[in-house]
Amino acid sequence: MSIGNNYKTILQMIGNTPLVRLEFGTKPTLLAKLELLNPGGSVKDRCALYMVEEAERTGKLKPGGTIVEASSGNQGISLAMIGKIKGYRVIITAPDRTAQEKIAILRAYGAEVYVCPNTDTHDDPRNYHTFAEHLTRSIPGAYMPNQYFNKVNPEAHYKTTGPEIWQQTEGKITHFITGTGSCGTISGTGRYLKEQNPNVKVIGVDAATSMYSSKEPKAYNVEGLGIDVISDTFDKNAIDHVIPITDEDAFTMTRKLARDHGIMVGISSGAVMHVALEYVKNLSESDVVVVMFADSGRNYLSKVFMTTPSAESRTPSQQTETVTVGAVHSPR
Ligand SMILES: Cc1ncc(COP(=O)(O)O)c(C=O)c1O
Repeated sequence: MSIGNNYKTILQMIGNTPLVRLEFGTKPTLLAKLELLNPGGSVKDRCALYMVEEAERTGKLKPGGTIVEASSGNQGISLAMIGKIKGYRVIITAPDRTAQEKIAILRAYGAEVYVCPNTDTHDDPRNYHTFAEHLTRSIPGAYMPNQYFNKVNPEAHYKTTGPEIWQQTEGKITHFITGTGSCGTISGTGRYLKEQNPNVKVIGVDAATSMYSSKEPKAYNVEGLGIDVISDTFDKNAIDHVIPITDEDAFTMTRKLARDHGIMVGISSGAVMHVALEYVKNLSESDVVVVMFADSGRNYLSKVFMTTPSAESRTPSQQTETVTVGAVHSPR
């Protein structure tokens, strides 16, 4: 008998998350994919691992190198965990809407964190994406996975999330509803599911004031959601609809799920659930709807659960509590 040989590293625990039934009195069967049970705590472990290992294979990331990424937290947390296990320096730029718990977790993993102003668009050099690109150009041996442009991001979901959901529902899934940020999850999972059955409907949930969903984009407070870049990771053939959601609706449902149903999930999961409960009203008993619960509510205790219900309607800069953990680096 060999002891402790089941999993050589924690990275082998990524994926194969459970699918659980949600009893909300809906006509269709409602199932949640519990991505919060990944070792880094979110769905983003999947694409982070795929992108880092592809960069290693192709020589873009070499031993002793540095991983730089723009992330509203979870992608950064996954990269920080993977970087630590594999021996890389990790630098993360995050917008100042990022919950302080996520910033603290990034630092706990030993990542260097730059908290950037929550700008309305990417044209501003202080924007977290723009600043990450600047850092990558300036640091020798730096590699930026660039989840918003890297096709390995949706590929990770095409190879893992899609097949898992198909098998777990025994091919009976009719609708897939997920949050959209980089759109890796929706594009990769959606493409796989539609290849198995073209009738599967794939629905994204976006921040109402993102660059995609609004003619006049504005900073928003939901995290994980928000299509601000349309790139190769957005596969329009894999997506049927994108439904916008306000900060208020997302925060309200996130609180309700914990308080009334014992489901402690993050803001994007609350947003997805809000949309799902409306959407299923027009569906029938034979439908099988899968919703993505991308991360845990524990990431947002200060931002969602310990604030007044009106906190989400304040602008991010008024929410100083979101950026006051430790020394805050800001791009110049
Ligand atoms: C909590 C959460 N939900 C949803 C998403 C959206 O996933 P994707 O970037 O694959 O569109 C993210 C991405 O960071 C996330 O962190």
